[in-house]
Amino acid sequence: MEKKNIEWSKLGFDYIKTDYRFVAKYKDGAWDEGTLSKDAQVVMSESAAVLQYAQTVFEGMKAYTTADGKIVTFRPDLNAERMIQSAQRLEMPVYPKDKFIDAVCQTIKANAAYVPPYGSGATLYVRPYMFGSNAVIGVKPAEEYEFRVFVTPVGPYFKGGVKPLTICISDFDRAAPHGTGNIKAGLNYAMSLHPYMECHRKGYDENMYLDPATRTKVEETGGANFLFVTKDNKIVTPKSNSILPSITRRSLLYVAKEYLGLETEEREIYLDELGDFAECGLCGTAAVISPVGKVVLHDKEICFPSGMNDMGPTTKKLYETLTGIQMGSIKAPEGWIYEVC
Ligand code: PLP
Ligand code: COI
Repeated sequence: MEKKNIEWSKLGFDYIKTDYRFVAKYKDGAWDEGTLSKDAQVVMSESAAVLQYAQTVFEGMKAYTTADGKIVTFRPDLNAERMIQSAQRLEMPVYPKDKFIDAVCQTIKANAAYVPPYGSGATLYVRPYMFGSNAVIGVKPAEEYEFRVFVTPVGPYFKGGVKPLTICISDFDRAAPHGTGNIKAGLNYAMSLHPYMECHRKGYDENMYLDPATRTKVEETGGANFLFVTKDNKIVTPKSNSILPSITRRSLLYVAKEYLGLETEEREIYLDELGDFAECGLCGTAAVISPVGKVVLHDKEICFPSGMNDMGPTTKKLYETLTGIQMGSIKAPEGWIYEVC
């Protein structure tokens, strides 16, 4: 199979149309078989539930070319499970786990020419999503839905690549107590756009959101979880029921413990203790692990000892081990890697 003529190493995190997407439709209480389509346009009612009341959920995952030329994807079963939880919270039908994994694999395989080569620094981002498609005008769930998967080749999520980021503590909240912060719904991202632009206008890379009930604890950014390294080399991540349960974070905690022999802890992290950590990073499918050099709260700066030039040493080890597992140079735990073709 001949790869597309793309300058892989120059890719940013932007949409590029690829050849095939998977489309399944839900009507009269059942999903159809679904099929691959060459048509990238979605046609629906002007009063579709997704357009009027944001009834939509999505997932984000990646496909990789391994050193021996296979195309693989990482823990799609966990994305399938999380999408089920997201759909249930928004009163949407469940897309079954085995069909989800099959649809993802079919879409990656059909677009194999767009999967960046091993060592190119790029990957194939996979976006499964589901939305209410029939007309509603009273506030109620749709009766018809589409489940789709598209893929797009991507480079680093943050422009500077692996240069440490400056994060600003947002005065806005991302999630409400007992709200939807723990699911992957489009509405969480729509409300983050204004705080995101405000933070950029002030020259920062991303927001750190605080817990909405007390505003004293670290939650996450608009698109990634936080990970901290203590001065005695323990990995600590925030525990909260209003953050997205990141698959990358869960995998990194396992890697830290089982591969690197580090102590790990998930617990509430107070703003007051930020200055005690040695390293900080953002973790997620898109972010992978992006190092954070500095956190700013109004006019107060908290600078991590790892500095503004390089990834901290423990963050780097985590990054290298996780990406090694994903790209096949390090043996993966049982069931983490799905071979597509
Ligand atoms: N938090 C938010 C708000 C996200 O959008 C994402 C991205 O999916 C993550 C965390 C990281 O989750 P994962 O590692 O499953 O990609
Ligand atoms: C991801 O990491 O997959 C995300 O969804 C984050 C962002 C692109 C929304």
